[in-house]
This record gives sequence, C-alpha cells and structure tokens, in this order.
Amino acid sequence: MQTSDRLAPFGVTIFTEMTKLAREHDAINLGQGFPNWDGADFVKRAAIESLERGGTDQYPPSPGIPELRKTLATAYGPKLGRDLDPDTEITVTCGCTEALAASLLGLVNQGDEVVLIEPFYDAYPADVSMAGAVSRFVTLRPPDFALDPDQLRAVVGPNTRAILFNNPHNPTGRVFTDAELALLAELCVEHDVIAISDEVYEEMVYESPHRRLATYDGMWERTLTLSSLGKTFSLTGWKVGWAIGPPHLIAGLRSAHQFLTFTTPTPVQHGAAAALTAPESFYEEMRSGYREKRDLLGKGLEEIGFEVFIPQGTYFLMARHSGFGLGDDRAFCRHLVEHARVAAIPPSVFYATPGEGAELVRFAFCKDEETLSEALDRMRAL
Ligand SMILES: Cc1ncc(COP(=O)(O)O)c(C=O)c1O
Repeated sequence: MQTSDRLAPFGVTIFTEMTKLAREHDAINLGQGFPNWDGADFVKRAAIESLERGGTDQYPPSPGIPELRKTLATAYGPKLGRDLDPDTEITVTCGCTEALAASLLGLVNQGDEVVLIEPFYDAYPADVSMAGAVSRFVTLRPPDFALDPDQLRAVVGPNTRAILFNNPHNPTGRVFTDAELALLAELCVEHDVIAISDEVYEEMVYESPHRRLATYDGMWERTLTLSSLGKTFSLTGWKVGWAIGPPHLIAGLRSAHQFLTFTTPTPVQHGAAAALTAPESFYEEMRSGYREKRDLLGKGLEEIGFEVFIPQGTYFLMARHSGFGLGDDRAFCRHLVEHARVAAIPPSVFYATPGEGAELVRFAFCKDEETLSEALDRMRAL
C-alpha cells in the first residue's frame, strides 16, 4: 500500500465494507443512505431534454450553468433572507461531497484547527486531513444528542479556522435548536471562525422548521451553506451539489473547485434547475412519506428490543443495541448481517473518541415500506 499519510488512517469507508457484507449474505441493506426508488420523472425529463437539445457536450462554466445558479438564487434568497448574486455567491459542485472538500482546501491553512461534531459524516475528518489541518471534536451523546455548550466553548479558540457543522444531523437525526445555533453563531463571531454548514437534509425535518446558521446575527459573512440534490430528490447518483455564501468565501471555495472537478455535467445541472422549481406539495409529500417510514422502523425496532432514539430529521435512525448482549457495534452489525441478513452501520466509525458509539447502531429508513417490514421481520429472530 502506498496511500499517502494524509489518507492512510481512513482506510476504506464503512459503507463499502458493509455493502460488500450485505451482498455476501444477501442482506437487506439499511446501511448506506440511498433510497431504493428512482428520482422524480419531471427532473429526469429535464436532464434528458438537455441531452437531446444538444450543445451540452462540452465543458459548462466552472461555477455552474447560469440557469441553475439563477434558480438557486431564487430558491435560497427567501430562505436566507437576502438577494443572492448568482455570479459571486453561488457555486455548483459535484455533490455536497465536493463542496465540502473544496471548502476546506480553499479556505483552511496548514495547521489550522477545524471543529467537528462527532459522530461526524465520514468525509469530514478526511477532508480536514487533506487540507493539512487538525480536527478538534465536540461529542454528541444519546439520548438527545444535544450540543454540550461547555465542550463547544472549550474547543473553539484562537487557532480555530472553521467549524464544520451538519444540520439536520447525520447519523443522529438531531435537528439542532435555536439556542444551539445561537451559541455556535456567538462563538464563530467571537473567535472570527468560518462556518461550513452542511444542510443536505434541509428538507427532511419532521417536527420543527429548518433553521439556517447563515441567518444568525453576524453569520452571513462567515458561513458557507452547502447542500445538494441527492437526498431531497432521491438522486444521490447524480452528484449535483452547491455552495452559497458571501463572495470572499465562495472565491476560496472556487479556487479549489476549479482544480478538483472544474465543473459538473450539464444535463444533470439542467435536471437540478427543474427540481428546484418543484411545488411545496412535492416537499410535503416527501416529508410525510419519510415520517411514516421513520415511525414504522422506530416502532418495529422498539418491539424487537432496541432502545430507539427517534430522529427529528434526516433518514437515519440511531438505536441502542447493547440490550442484546452481542458485543460492541461492529460485532453487533456483523451478527446482524450474518444471522438476520440485515445490514446496518456501526456508528463508532463516526467518532474519533475511542469507545463512543459502541452501544449504538445506525439504520437508514430511505427504503420502501415492504423492505423495511421485511427487515423488521428478519430482525425479530434477535
Ligand atoms: C451529512 C452529509 N453530507 C454530505 C453528503 C454527501 O452528499 P452528496 O451525495 O451530495 O455528495 C452526505 C451523504 O450521505 C451526508 O450524509
């Protein structure tokens, strides 16, 4: 193996590992977060028309096609409470994954500290490492996975360049409160810190409205809001994402984006522009569908004997498995895939602090109800 020192510690992702095991055991895969249905026809149609019209085969502009950037400005202006300039305040990326990498590579210097909330999305510490920066962690714990104000205050300081925040939060399903966001904002302003706010689950909030960090006092000028098409529109394979923020931060992100992917394929950008004009009823239907799936899985897991932490957002659910006495989270997930033929994710891989997450298991409920019911039936053998 000749992997660089920056990436060697991260190995292969847990998703690759669990998906392989799922295949080997013919298991239902409640591990990786992708829906087992296709995206909406009106979005696909727009991408097909883009291809058929022609003139879409050569490089589109690096920041994204003007049509998509304009649509993003119209869609996000009211959400962020300001008029957005599509030329300087918006960039289209290859999924949120690239927006995350470009934010860190474009805005963070060697040796800077970046605060991550653990459990984290697995790309975060790898992105920090690729940027030559150092991760500092704040830990969320069950049952409520709330941000601990004292821990947060203790890690944010003069060396902090950025906070990488994710709301609604994968894998806990937490939707952070107004007080938690206000504290984050206060610390960012006090220590002149950049917030990179990953909001890919922005439309999957089940009880409360989605609050945006960029709208808090003093935060627009220091926040990049990142999101993507994948989760909301069940198009995870299209890899269309975007970053929205003030020109001085977007310029940093673009300096990396131009050398990472340079741009995103034109037909899927046209599809994204169509998606973002969906009526409110589309979002309401999507949300109520996920709410039903969440409740189906949550109730079923509870009946089986898990302690379930009902998520307020995202399509992930965390549960405590330790009542079954099958070891730590990795041992439990291995047992689950081998004996119940259901794949899930062991969340300790999302914590840097040893021992954290060992009693937990993460299930994805972005699957049709028949699949979720069949998975529950299989797990009853536990
Ligand atoms: C928190 C979070 N951020 C980013 C991503 C990646 O988004 P995309 O598929 O748009 O690259 C995911 C996907 O699972 C995620 O859960």
